[in-house]
Amino acid sequence: MITPMSEPPVAIRAMSHEDLPEVSDIERRSYEFPWSHGVFRDCLLAGYQCIVLEREELVAGYSILSVAAGEAHILNLCIDPTHRAHGYGELLLDAILGVARDADVEEVFLEVRPSNETAMALYRKKGFHQIANRPKYYQSQHGREDAAVFSKKLGNDY
Ligand SMILES: CC(C)(COP(=O)(O)OP(=O)(O)OC[C@H]1O[C@@H](n2cnc3c(N)ncnc32)[C@H](O)[C@@H]1OP(=O)(O)O)[C@@H](O)C(=O)NCCC(=O)NCCS
Repeated sequence: MITPMSEPPVAIRAMSHEDLPEVSDIERRSYEFPWSHGVFRDCLLAGYQCIVLEREELVAGYSILSVAAGEAHILNLCIDPTHRAHGYGELLLDAILGVARDADVEEVFLEVRPSNETAMALYRKKGFHQIANRPKYYQSQHGREDAAVFSKKLGNDY
């Protein structure tokens, strides 16, 4: 168990198929263009590293990591809108980086919308640096939006 300041205890554990209704519900309430239930199911079936953050026995966040050839990609990291700004996003990111380190990953990558200032701030705080820009990567209400590509080399610094 991990306990952030003055909050109920939370636990981080592997995601299971039984979690998918709660995960999908958080996803729908969090993103303008959410992943479908089927995408999460495929991530589990593909053997991606999928974890959830549980608070008072309910899923309050999740993250998904794909690992290949010494590199990892954070494909999703999300906290329930009703539980944001309590340190849980940082806890979840620390946990998924721990999963990457356990898999002997040397470098972790992710894409983020440049308009997503909250996520950009979180990743920078945790030692990620922008290494590239992928033009027109994301669907948006006004055509396409670029992605900022971030990376972090894993050492013993987290
Ligand atoms: C990004 C996200 C995971 C952050 O989770 P969170 O639990 O609210 O974040 P935390 O409380 O752990 O905050 C950690 C850091 O994130 C940044 N942050 C959090 N909320 C912020 C806000 N409203 N504005 C700017 N930065 C913010 C800060 O750097 C913060 O560190 P600090 O408290 O020392 O300033 C959450 O906002 C979320 O789920 N967003 C929707 C999904 C998403 O966009 N995921 C990322 C896709 S790439």
